[in-house]
Parts: sequence; C-alpha cells; structure tokens
Amino acid sequence: MAEEIAVDVNIGKEEKYRALLPQLEALVSDEKNEVANMANISAALMEVFHFFWVGFYIVDNESLVLGPFQGPVACTRISPGKGVCGKVWSDKKTAIVPDVDEFPGHIACNSGSRSEIVVPGLGAREEVSFVLDVDSDQLDFFDKVDQAYLEKIVQLLAG
Ligand code: SME
Repeated sequence: MAEEIAVDVNIGKEEKYRALLPQLEALVSDEKNEVANMANISAALMEVFHFFWVGFYIVDNESLVLGPFQGPVACTRISPGKGVCGKVWSDKKTAIVPDVDEFPGHIACNSGSRSEIVVPGLGAREEVSFVLDVDSDQLDFFDKVDQAYLEKIVQLLAG
C-alpha cells in the first residue's frame, strides 16, 4: 500500500488530479472499511490542494452525519434538503456553488467558506450513501475539472 502521496506542487490542477487518482486507487483498494478510506482521501486531497475544507457527510437514517474530514470543525448533522449537501443528497447529482451567499439555504459551518462543490456517492440500488463536500475560501473556485475528478474519486469508495 502506498503510504505517501507524491504529487508535484508545480503542475496544474488537472495534472495534479491525474497524478493523484491512481495513488488514491492504490491507497483504498486493499481496505474495505469506508471510514478509513474516506479519512485518507480527505487527507490526500487536503495535502495536494490545500482546500479550505474537505470531507464527507454520511447518510445516517434521516440525516447526513459528519464523517472524516480535514479543516475547521463543521456542522455535525444536516437534514434532508438542507444546504448544498442536503440538495445533492436528494438530487443525486453534483452541485457546484460559485458563491455560497447566493445559494438559498446554504449552511455556513464556517464563515471562511466562499464557494463549494458537493459530489454524491452512490451505494446499493443507486441510493446516495454519502456526499463529498469540498469548500474554498475563494469565490468561484471549482469547475468541471474538479467535478470530473472528484466524481471519479468518489467512485473509488462506492465501488
Ligand atoms: N456548506 C454545506 C455544509 C457543510 S460545510 O460546508 C462543511 C452545505 O450547505 O451543505
């Protein structure tokens, strides 16, 4: 198992994701425990991209509960339909929010977060079993490149 993430700091965002993806695949492939894998994926994404916040919310009965993450302390539970995470849970598709202040119902766990992307993780029967939430302290930080690679990263867990 790879125990260190090696991604050149001087390459562009897409190249970083491209270099990171097989390393994440190696990191999670021998381990079935989803929480352990979420923890290492959060750590690796933070190490490479220095996001403001990166982590998981896991479906727990009638709400999403905070899972492994890196960054400032965050809201523990999110109700269905609430915030970006709750919307992604019900829509079953990725949301990119360029300005959190323009998103009705956005949950401000920390005032430092300005933009975010949330990606659903599908479990059995195509139900959402968790979401990956990544926040930036800059406006309009996330784009289709983040979406494409974060969706691939989430599939490493769902698979
Ligand atoms: N902003 C999210 C809540 C989670 S935190 O940002 C870590 C939302 O509106 O769903």
